[in-house]
Amino acid sequence: MKFKDKIILVTGSSRGIGRATAIAFAQEGANVVVNYVKNKPAGDKVVAEIKKLGADAIAIQADVANENEVQRMINETVKHFGGIDVLVNNAGIVFDVPIFEKTVEQWERTLKVNLIGAFLCTKYAVPHMKNRKGASILNISSTNGIDSLSPESADYDTSKAGVMSLTKNLSQSLAPNIRVNSIAPGWIDTEINKDLPKDFIKSETDKIALRRWGQPEEVAKAVLFLCSEDASFITGSTLVIDGGYE
Ligand SMILES: NC(=O)c1ccc[n+]([C@@H]2O[C@H](COP(=O)([O-])OP(=O)(O)OC[C@H]3O[C@@H](n4cnc5c(N)ncnc54)[C@H](OP(=O)(O)O)[C@@H]3O)[C@@H](O)[C@H]2O)c1
Repeated sequence: MKFKDKIILVTGSSRGIGRATAIAFAQEGANVVVNYVKNKPAGDKVVAEIKKLGADAIAIQADVANENEVQRMINETVKHFGGIDVLVNNAGIVFDVPIFEKTVEQWERTLKVNLIGAFLCTKYAVPHMKNRKGASILNISSTNGIDSLSPESADYDTSKAGVMSLTKNLSQSLAPNIRVNSIAPGWIDTEINKDLPKDFIKSETDKIALRRWGQPEEVAKAVLFLCSEDASFITGSTLVIDGGYE
């Protein structure tokens, strides 16, 4: 068990990649904080799944874009578990809207949740991670932040490029006590993509060498690797997981 009795906070873990990550950590013996913004039943369900595995878990509602709510989430985590060993900044949103139809409000919301949210969670978690052996932070970015080709997701792509930059920056500030890495997934089969047109999904699948989309569990395995002692000399890196997208 690679994370026996470690305390893990995964933002946006009621569904998708966050959920798979929370469960994967619990399977390795960790106790987990499941964060959600509005979907309480889904958060509670993940907690129940984790408890069935014999680990402890609590669900905490908090909007990662809201500083007061982030502070409350971190305080509740520390009150319940006594500290934080691993923070996974996973919560994210996208508005697929043609670039010049995008509103300032949409831009601001995307940047606030995807980028500033990662900063806020890090800012308030770090004081509770500093003295813990093997502490690390993992930020979920996106291949969209590397090759930004879609005008519908300009704000999202910008936020994810920012997440990779933030990762590098934090890896320097927080060394040597806390490692900070990022994962850039390509197309992963989750609800965030549920409204994409079928013909677009097909044309995108044709660009993937493995000819399929990834599963959330496949991202989770890489999250666990980068947060484990097996990755003890890796910090400031971004790992692309996209099945070979051209
Ligand atoms: N799926 C992909 O193809 C893909 C590719 C590259 C990167 N990513 C990134 O991977 C991460 C997870 O995506 P996903 O595909 O798993 O998405 P998803 O299935 O839509 O799940 C999003 C999760 O984030 C939570 N969330 C949304 N806004 C939040 C906020 N303001 N505060 C706290 N939690 C919030 C949701 O909570 P509720 O259930 O309460 O709404 C949910 O748990 C995101 O950062 C996304 O950008 C995804």
